[in-house]
Amino acid sequence: MSTQQKSFSSNLGAILAAVGSAVGLGNIWRFPYITGKYGGGAFLLVYLCFVFLLGSVLMISELVIGRRTRRTPLGAYESLTRKGHSVVWRMFGWLCVLTCFFILSQYLVLSGWTTGYVWHSVSGALATLGTDSSIISGFFQQFSTGGWNPVWFMVIFSALVLVVILGGVQKGVELASKVLMPILVVLILVLCVRSLTLPGAMRGVEYLFSPDFSKLTGEGILAALGQALFSLSVGMGVMVVYGSYLPANDNIFKTAMWITACDTLIAILAGVAIFPAVFSCGFDPAGGPGLVFCVLPNVFNSMGTAGIVFSVVFFLLLLVAALTSAISLLECLTACTCETSRLKRWQGAGLFFLLATALGAVFTLSFSHLSEVKMAGLSLFDFVDRINSIYLPPICALCTVIFFGWVMPKEAMVDELSNHGTLRIGYLKVLRFIARFIAPLALLVVLIWGIFFAQ
Ligand code: PHE
Repeated sequence: MSTQQKSFSSNLGAILAAVGSAVGLGNIWRFPYITGKYGGGAFLLVYLCFVFLLGSVLMISELVIGRRTRRTPLGAYESLTRKGHSVVWRMFGWLCVLTCFFILSQYLVLSGWTTGYVWHSVSGALATLGTDSSIISGFFQQFSTGGWNPVWFMVIFSALVLVVILGGVQKGVELASKVLMPILVVLILVLCVRSLTLPGAMRGVEYLFSPDFSKLTGEGILAALGQALFSLSVGMGVMVVYGSYLPANDNIFKTAMWITACDTLIAILAGVAIFPAVFSCGFDPAGGPGLVFCVLPNVFNSMGTAGIVFSVVFFLLLLVAALTSAISLLECLTACTCETSRLKRWQGAGLFFLLATALGAVFTLSFSHLSEVKMAGLSLFDFVDRINSIYLPPICALCTVIFFGWVMPKEAMVDELSNHGTLRIGYLKVLRFIARFIAPLALLVVLIWGIFFAQ
């Protein structure tokens, strides 16, 4: 097994790549609607606690483990373990690979739809639908159940991801993040300004920020924790791989805080871009997952000609966000393959591109040709959604904090966080306390609740 030689060229490049992984469909598509659903400001408060108390600890854990070993999850956990326990942690590495693979395959479905909507907004097809909700929902229904049509859009998206990965760590992943992340920030700011200057926009801001504690159920609190982990891309080894690419002089604590803060800010900005426009145009904000594909096109169409521009801008934003996240997932799978086999980078990337795209196609077709196929009474897409939200990520996150808090040698952690004693690490006690007690407990509760109580 070889230790990786690759790394990002600069600290900024590293932060942008990690923020690129974190900022994705989770921020722009999922965060706004669950925030609305579970009580706006009340949910936001809980979410912020989870992100900064637990999410950032997981982020630090993964970055430390990755940079310390310069390996992927397949070798990293094992190499920091005392002999005798290494088999268990090697198996955990494989579980991370499996989780990444399932998340990527499911992510490709939504990314394919997003690519389709970029096309339909550029071609003007969305603009011709008018402002009748049933027609717009019907269009989405027809598109998503349209057999191979959405699959082709997904293939285009996966091919873009593959091209970036083939470029390598610095000229592919890092360069793409350096170009795409600033574009994403500009696009989201443009949308925020437009949305906030529409008449009646303040009602949307209120909906997003004013706390309604009556809507914040136990389920909402668990959703906040799940969302915090998913949004930061932690709990499946992606950040271990990015950690292994971090420059040696990088201050991991600071980097982790930057990533966490940027990811959270962009999620909030997405809410600010979406809700004021939805309220101003008189639509129902409780659109659920359909908010982006059914409600927003209606919002854009009711803005007149300018709406066409905003529709293109919005779906491009979504595409860019999805791209940098999917890139990190394929990068993780590629790095793992190269570390454990003799395959070259292009072969490893090609292999997982084919496998994930094929499985993504199956999940996409589960809305049409394969709708009759059920697993545990669920459609294939819903089945993988369940695995990807209730089982795999919480299990992986739990194992990661246990490893960081209890298994890896404390000296290695201190040495890595302090850059061999050159940085002050006054936060160490708090960090270790959270990693050893609070985080495992919280994750255990999420896991048990998810398995036994989630419908
Ligand atoms: N964080 C990404 C998002 O918010 C999703 C993701 C999860 C990406 C795990 C990589 C790894 O959409």
